[in-house]
Amino acid sequence: MRLTVIGCGYLGAVHAAAMASIGHEVVGIDVDPRKIEALSRGEAPFFEPDLEELLAAGVESGRLTFTTDMAAAAGSAVHFVAVGTPQQQGGYAADLTYVNGAVDSLLPYLRPGDIVAGKSTVPVGTAAELAPRIEATGAILVWNPEFLREGWAVKDTIEPDRLVVGVGASTGSATGSGSATGSGSATGSGAPTDSGQATDPAQVLREVYHPAVAAGTPFIVTDWATAELVKVAANAFLATKISFINAMAEIAEVTGADVTQLADAIGHDARIGRRFLGAGIGFGGGCLPKDIRAFSARAEELGRGESVAFLREVDAINLRRRDRAVDLVLQAFDGSVFEKRVAVLGAAFKPFSDDIRDSPALDVAVRLRGLGADVIVTDPAAIENARRLHPQLTYIEDRDDAIRDADAVILVTEWDEYRRELDPEHASSLTTGRIVVDGRNGLDAAAWRAAGWTYYGMGRP
Ligand code: UDX
Repeated sequence: MRLTVIGCGYLGAVHAAAMASIGHEVVGIDVDPRKIEALSRGEAPFFEPDLEELLAAGVESGRLTFTTDMAAAAGSAVHFVAVGTPQQQGGYAADLTYVNGAVDSLLPYLRPGDIVAGKSTVPVGTAAELAPRIEATGAILVWNPEFLREGWAVKDTIEPDRLVVGVGASTGSATGSGSATGSGSATGSGAPTDSGQATDPAQVLREVYHPAVAAGTPFIVTDWATAELVKVAANAFLATKISFINAMAEIAEVTGADVTQLADAIGHDARIGRRFLGAGIGFGGGCLPKDIRAFSARAEELGRGESVAFLREVDAINLRRRDRAVDLVLQAFDGSVFEKRVAVLGAAFKPFSDDIRDSPALDVAVRLRGLGADVIVTDPAAIENARRLHPQLTYIEDRDDAIRDADAVILVTEWDEYRRELDPEHASSLTTGRIVVDGRNGLDAAAWRAAGWTYYGMGRP
């Protein structure tokens, strides 16, 4: 099938490459010529495991091309919209400028029966608002949210744990309860094509994702609003889970309890589950923080602010954990970090990524610098991005050089290089500083203590 992917960021570039890898002919479109040039050479414009191999193979096969020219969308059966929906300047709501811009520039190239598949994370109600413009061309709008995690994006795209397709009332697939799973086919007729045949958008999406569908991946057909909500609800739940355990960390801190043992113990309850109960400096990135804020803003608009009022608390707890990490460093130095050399291990918002958007790691580094510390930041992938955003910090690529002569070491992104591979005895050979703050509860506290370090965890005695 011929597919268009509009927006070649973390989401779109991976989607385009993944779709080419399963046999489709894909054209990726982005307004940024530098990004397009890199992608056209088969190079990933950002760090994402396995992406470069996939891109290179796609480009070499001739099935994957990239351009800045929207006219290249003409002739595709499905046009995925994968542009960003950042937090609005000075507000909480999502900024839909890029979504609207992408759709408007796509309109002249749509044919009757074409499918426009929204992948961007949008406020509920966006599809209904976009639909009239799209449907006026005879094309069909579906919402097909994406659940990929950075660092696992290729795997998550090729082997998703579920596929969700929201269709409009006029295409008839999502009636009443609005849900059909498994191989149940969507009924009803979509817009007629030139040949007069009706297009069933859910069926077309099943064909797009054929390997995953054949492997039995749950395929859930809903209405537009449900599909939009599935995405924000999932992210709100994940954020809540993290802030829940971080709230427990706050209680642990005043009672002497250990939040990691607590998480292990409650995590054995299958209804709770251990995943996403990692207490530490909290969540960041381009999705969870802005998505819960946009959800709150949208709920307010809908007159249901109180229904998700807890998300404000989730956000507040999350931000307090960054304060806590800074406080621990201060505490270790009896209240002043002035001119103390602090090695900050990590800049990316999470491991296996070079993404520094709303990174708790960098936030902590910047605050320590603001308190007069001599901050040295290291990261295996994100230094270039971090330097661009925070040129006032000092960056050292080599982990050991960053630790050398530090008065304190603080782990803020749990890369294997720090969590598993940094032997405390080896760290002791690099510096006489013996303070380690574990912002991700990723280090072996006993081993660090045995090597002579004073260990501070998050929510741990
Ligand atoms: C998230 C969702 O997981 C994904 O489904 C959605 O499509 C996009 O948003 P991502 O932002 O890539 O994905 O990262 P994720 O792995 O969810 O981590 C988000 C943040 O939470 C990171 O900063 C991570 O360090 C933090 N986190 C995660 C914790 O603090 N504790 C945990 O237990 C898990």
